[in-house]
Amino acid sequence: MKILVTGAGGQIGTDLLPMLLSRGHDVAVYDLAPRPDWCPAGVEWMRGDISVSAEVFDAVKSAAPDRIFHLAAILSAAGEAVPHRTWHVNLDGTRYVLEAARLFEVQQVFYTSTIAVFGPGLEPPVGDDVPLHPTTMYGVTKVAGELLGEYYESVFGLDFRGVRFPGLINAGIPGGGTSDYALYMFVDGMRDGAYEAFCTPESRIPFMYMPDALRAMIELSEAPKEALTRSIYNIAAMSPTAQEIADAVRERVPGVNLTFKSDPKRQAILDSWPAVLDDSNARRDWGWKHEFDLAAMSDDIVPKIRELIESQGQAEGAHV
Ligand code: SER
Repeated sequence: MKILVTGAGGQIGTDLLPMLLSRGHDVAVYDLAPRPDWCPAGVEWMRGDISVSAEVFDAVKSAAPDRIFHLAAILSAAGEAVPHRTWHVNLDGTRYVLEAARLFEVQQVFYTSTIAVFGPGLEPPVGDDVPLHPTTMYGVTKVAGELLGEYYESVFGLDFRGVRFPGLINAGIPGGGTSDYALYMFVDGMRDGAYEAFCTPESRIPFMYMPDALRAMIELSEAPKEALTRSIYNIAAMSPTAQEIADAVRERVPGVNLTFKSDPKRQAILDSWPAVLDDSNARRDWGWKHEFDLAAMSDDIVPKIRELIESQGQAEGAHV
């Protein structure tokens, strides 16, 4: 199958591209950044801006994909610094991808939504169908993107589906999200021996290890349409406090100094998100089941980050 991945230069794409290739797909990328060193051979890398409609249309026309994984977005913390641009990239970008999919007869658009669609005051575990009142521009654009995709599905018959990801953790590049403290505890903790988290130790939001997140994308994208009762699904894996994540790092990285200094802006974003998600619709409709809890993830990720630090850490200015 021919698959186009937008924004593949970010946190998810780094791990998604090799997985798609290993499954025998023909993969093309549309990203603002130039082709990075880690990009596997065999991937066609097209440079372009997701917020420029003509460039998006040209890319989709030329790649002629069967399926698009639409990852390009500005995340929550980064987005609050540039809300106008975030609207343009996240929402206009999604509109261009959906319209290009309609024009050039792409079979499916897979959308990466987020826990940031939720706002404060929801009783955990928070299900799929609750009032959505996000407090960040990122969240606002993701709610609107979900609705726009559903519009394209009902009016034009596009196969639109996606997941609301928890904060994602992988041995890779943090993406400007408010959930990045978890990843930095591992990466900075191992590389620098210390990290000061920008939240309180009690902060609790849903997280997921990247291999589970990738598997969710593949499994939902391949699920028979008749089995699905909705377009967008909550998915969950674990909901550790920041303290519990720090303890998991300390157990595996002796001597690491992890401290907390809450940043009011980022803390307010974290506090507005649900502590725990209800993902029973995903479990029932397409058999979603996470594999990694905090302990299993920590055991798996520590050697991978060590390897990454050894391979990249000595390169000048490298920041894994
Ligand atoms: N990880 C994202 C963020 O923090 C949430 O989807 O913005």
